[in-house]
Amino acid sequence: MIHIENNVFTLHTRRTTYQFKADEHGVLLHTYYGARVGNDDLSCLIQLADRGFAPNPYDAGTNRWYSLNTLPQEYSTCGVGDYRMPAIIAENADGSHIVDLRFERFETRPGKYALDGLPAFYGGSSEAETLIITLHDSTTRLTVELYYGVFEEFDLICRAARIINRGSAPVRLLRASSACLDFPSDALDWITFDGRHIMEREFSRTPLRPGVQNIGSVRGTSSHQHNPFVMLCEHSADEDHGLCFGMALLYSGSFEAAVESNPFHDARFAIGISPHHFCWLLAPGEAFTTPEAAMVCSPTGFAAMTHCWHRAIRTHLFRGPYQFERRRPLLVNNWEATMFDFDAEKLVSIARAAAPLGIDMLVMDDGWFGTRCDDLGGLGDWTVNENKLPGGLEALVPRIRALGMDFGLWIEPEMVSEDSELYRQHPDWALRVPNRPPTLGRSQLVLDYTRKDVRDAIYAALCKVLRSADIRYIKWDFNRSLSDVWSAALPADRQGEVYHRYILGLYEMLERFHQDFPDLLIEGCSGGGGRFDAGMLYYTPQIWCSDNTDAIDRLRIHYGTSFCYPVSSMGSHVSAVPNEQTHRITPLETRGIVAMSGAFGYELDLSQATDAEKAIMTRQNADYRKYYDLIHNGDYYRLTSPFENDRYTAWAHVSADKREALVSLVMGASRAALPFITLRLRGLDESLRYRVNGQQSYLGSTLIHAGCPIPMLMGDYRSLQLHLVAE
Ligand code: DGJ
Repeated sequence: MIHIENNVFTLHTRRTTYQFKADEHGVLLHTYYGARVGNDDLSCLIQLADRGFAPNPYDAGTNRWYSLNTLPQEYSTCGVGDYRMPAIIAENADGSHIVDLRFERFETRPGKYALDGLPAFYGGSSEAETLIITLHDSTTRLTVELYYGVFEEFDLICRAARIINRGSAPVRLLRASSACLDFPSDALDWITFDGRHIMEREFSRTPLRPGVQNIGSVRGTSSHQHNPFVMLCEHSADEDHGLCFGMALLYSGSFEAAVESNPFHDARFAIGISPHHFCWLLAPGEAFTTPEAAMVCSPTGFAAMTHCWHRAIRTHLFRGPYQFERRRPLLVNNWEATMFDFDAEKLVSIARAAAPLGIDMLVMDDGWFGTRCDDLGGLGDWTVNENKLPGGLEALVPRIRALGMDFGLWIEPEMVSEDSELYRQHPDWALRVPNRPPTLGRSQLVLDYTRKDVRDAIYAALCKVLRSADIRYIKWDFNRSLSDVWSAALPADRQGEVYHRYILGLYEMLERFHQDFPDLLIEGCSGGGGRFDAGMLYYTPQIWCSDNTDAIDRLRIHYGTSFCYPVSSMGSHVSAVPNEQTHRITPLETRGIVAMSGAFGYELDLSQATDAEKAIMTRQNADYRKYYDLIHNGDYYRLTSPFENDRYTAWAHVSADKREALVSLVMGASRAALPFITLRLRGLDESLRYRVNGQQSYLGSTLIHAGCPIPMLMGDYRSLQLHLVAE
C-alpha cells in the first residue's frame, strides 16, 4: 500500500515499511526501511548538528545544520556537498560534474511499472502498485524519474531510475545507479556470494568497516566471481531472527554493489550498472533507463527473506508455460558423457537407456554444428554437422521422439570462432578493436550484440534450426568474458555505451525467442553459473547452476544460490564418478538427493549404467516426480550451513500449508566414532503431528526445538531423505 501525505511517501508491504519525503528544500530524504510501522513522518528521527566540513546548499542560507553530507538521501547526487557515494554522476556540457536534484512531482499507478527492453518483475493492479517521483536539476534541466513498484504480499519493493535530458545541451552519464539506500546505522554485516568458475556463489559475511566495500563485475556479464544479489543484516541476524535486507539487480552485465560506512556511523548502499567504461551520451530529449533493483526486507531473519524472493520470482518474474503450467523436463544431457565425441548412434543409445528410467528429454550439447569437433572452431556456423548426424535434426529428432522422449539443443548464440565461416565473412561482427590482435577466451570471440544486423543474422540461422525439428528446449550458453569492448557500428564518443548496449541486445534476442517460440524452455548457462542473475530469470526460468557437478561441492553452491534464487531455477544434474571436476566418489543416491533439489537431470552415459544403477535412478526419478510440487513450489529452508558444518548438510522443502515436508541430509567424509545427530527442523507447524517416512510420529514443536534423531550413516557422503506428512 502506498500512503502519501504532505510529500511523505510511505510504502507498506505485509511486514515492512519504506519511507522517504521531499523536505522544504525539495531534497528527497530517506527516512525509514524496516519492520512495518504506521504512517508517521519519520523524518522526526533525523537529528541535525553543525558538522565540520559538511557544506550547506545555497538555499539553506545560514542554516549550517542542513547538509546533504549528513542527511539520509533517497537518490544521492554529486558535486553539491554530499561526499558519500553518489547514485548519479553526470558530466554537463560545460564540463561540470554537478547534479542537484530537487522534487518536482509524483504520480501513482495501479499495477507494477514495466521497463522497455529490460527485465522487470511484473504484476497487475490487484498485485502491485507503482509510485513515480520526478526530480530535476533546475540549471541543466536534467530530470530523474524514480520508479517504485510495491508487491505487498512478498515484502518486495522494486526500483529503477529514468534519466531524461530536458535541457538544450548534451549530457554524459558516468554513473546511473538503480537504487541507493541510506541506513541510519552501520552496525551491519555485508553478505555477498562470491566465487569462480566451477565454484560459484560461496557465502561470505563480514561486518562493515569504515569506507566503501564493493563487489561487482567488469566482465560484461554478471560473472562467476560475484553475484548481483547481496545482503545487509544486523550482526545478530540468522535464519530465524534479526533484520536483514536482500538487494538484487535484474541485470546480466557488468554491475556494482557497494556499501559505504561513514564517519557518523550511517551506511549508504548503492547498486547498478558498473561505472567501469560506462559513459552514456544523452542528447537533448533523450532518456536512459537503469536496470531494475529489487529489495526485500525481513524483520525475522534470512529464511523469511528467502521465501519472499522465491515466491516473488516464481510468480512475478518467471514467464511462459514452464512457470507453473508445465513441469520442467527431467533431462539427460550428453556433455559430461561424451564431450564433443558423439554421433547420432551414441545419442540414440543414451536416449534408449534413459527412456525406461522415466527421463523426459535428451539434450544434445555442444559440438553438433559446423565443423566443431573441439572448442577451437565452428561457433557461429549454425548448420548441422551431417558427418556426426546424417540427415540432420530432421532424422535424429524423430528417433528420439519415437522413444517417447523430447529433444533439446545446446547453442551459444553470442559467440563466434575465428575458425568459422561466419567470422571469415564478417570479421567486423565480433567485438574487437581494428589493428589490434583480439583477446581470445576459450579460443573464441564475442559477437557485437549492440548491432541489430548481427542479431538478425544469428536469429535467422537459429530459427531455421529450431523450425527444422521438434525442439522443446534450448540451453543458451556463454563461455567467455567480454574484452576488446569496441563496436564497429558506434562512433568514438559512444564506445562507453557498448557494455550496456550489448546487454540490451542480448535481452532483445531473448525476448524474440520468448515471443516467437512461446513453448520453448530456455535454460541459461555461462560456463555453468557465470550469468546466474534475476535478469536472466525473466527469460530463462532455469540456469545451469555450475559446471561443477560434484554433489559435495554442489552443497555449497546450492546453499549460496538459495538465498535469493528459487530451487526451480537451479539446473542440477547427476553425473558420473569419480567426478570430473573433483575426482570425488559419492554414492549415486547422494548425487540424486542433491540434484533433485533443483531442475533435475542427468549428465552421464546412461548406456553404460549397470542394472543396479538403473534401479536406483528409476527410484530417484519416481521420488522426484512424487515430490516435484514440494520441491519446486514449496518453501526452502536451510537447516545447516556447509560453510560452518562439514560433518553434514541439511535442508528442507515445506509445503505452503505446512502439512508436508521433505528433509534431505548429506554427510561429509566418514570418520570413526561419530557423535549422533539430532537435526532441528524449520518451517513446520508447531502444533501439528508429523509422521516421518511412514513410521514414527513427532509433534512439530518437538522437531523444531528438540530435533529429529538421524540414524547413523557410515561411509563417505551418505545421505537420507525424510518425508514428513501431517496426521
Ligand atoms: C559450458 C557449459 O556449462 C557446459 O555444460 C557445456 O555446455 C559446455 N559449455 C559446452 O561447451
